Amino acid sequence: MKITELINLGSSYLKNNKILSSRIDSEIILSHVMGISRERLLIGENYINKEEADKFNSLILRRSRNEPIAYITKNKEFRSTNFFVNKNSLIPRPETELIIDPLVEFYKNKNLYFLDVGIGTGCISFSILNEIKNSRGLGIDISNKTLNNAKKNLKKYKNRVKILKKSIEDLNNTKFDLIISNPPYVVKRDINRLSDDIKKFEPRIALDGGNDGLDVIKKVIYKSKDILKYNGILALEIGNGQYPLVAKILKVNKFKQKKIIVDYKDNIRCIFSTLLK
Ligand SMILES: C[S@@+](CC[C@H](N)C(=O)[O-])C[C@H]1O[C@@H](n2cnc3c(N)ncnc32)[C@H](O)[C@@H]1O
Repeated sequence: MKITELINLGSSYLKNNKILSSRIDSEIILSHVMGISRERLLIGENYINKEEADKFNSLILRRSRNEPIAYITKNKEFRSTNFFVNKNSLIPRPETELIIDPLVEFYKNKNLYFLDVGIGTGCISFSILNEIKNSRGLGIDISNKTLNNAKKNLKKYKNRVKILKKSIEDLNNTKFDLIISNPPYVVKRDINRLSDDIKKFEPRIALDGGNDGLDVIKKVIYKSKDILKYNGILALEIGNGQYPLVAKILKVNKFKQKKIIVDYKDNIRCIFSTLLK
């Protein structure tokens, strides 16, 4: 069978199963099966063998059941780098990419010792280590399984980053220039309203922020009072509508806001603050 015919078949199957990105997903899955880029796939007039077609069909079936494309291909791009990802880690989001630019701007000629709370795939730590030359860090997470993925993704920088299984409350005796966290922040009762791709496949532990969505955010703020250097930056990613409450908690805990980052949909997605003396 010709490649274009197979792409069309996959795309119609996904469309019939209400997958909105049916065409592009069919192309991505076939390029994954063939081990070539989508661009090369589309210009080639190649035929596909039975084994490849069977593999393609089985992956299309998984996608038709709403499994995210990143888990099927075991890959997600974040700031132009490919990260290994599977069902044990949250899939890196484009909004999270926005946190990195201001940090690079601020720390580019400075020494930086950072803490990444909830390291997940390691996409945030990797970007800092990759884009800020004099940086070193510590990445923590409570999920052993995601820590394995982080270690895999951060192999290149293993001499500059330590990766530990720890919850934020258990960190003591160290001071950081920067504490960065994209914590779980979905309100528990709202998880069921998320799309099937997310609620059926992504790890609960990476989504569930407790009854008000702020459980881990509060823990990070409280602990940062002890482990952030004066003038250090606490960079927190937050959920939609959480800004007023988080801003209040920061103020009560003697943090001064330095910057907010608004995402592609105009939601306040990240707050940078510093600790007052
Ligand atoms: C939303 S994911 C973010 C993953 C990654 N940093 C990213 O931006 O793609 C949140 C991560 O925090 C971890 N986590 C949840 N509670 C935690 C805690 N108390 N201390 C440290 N990590 C925690 C989860 O296991 C998950 O990997």
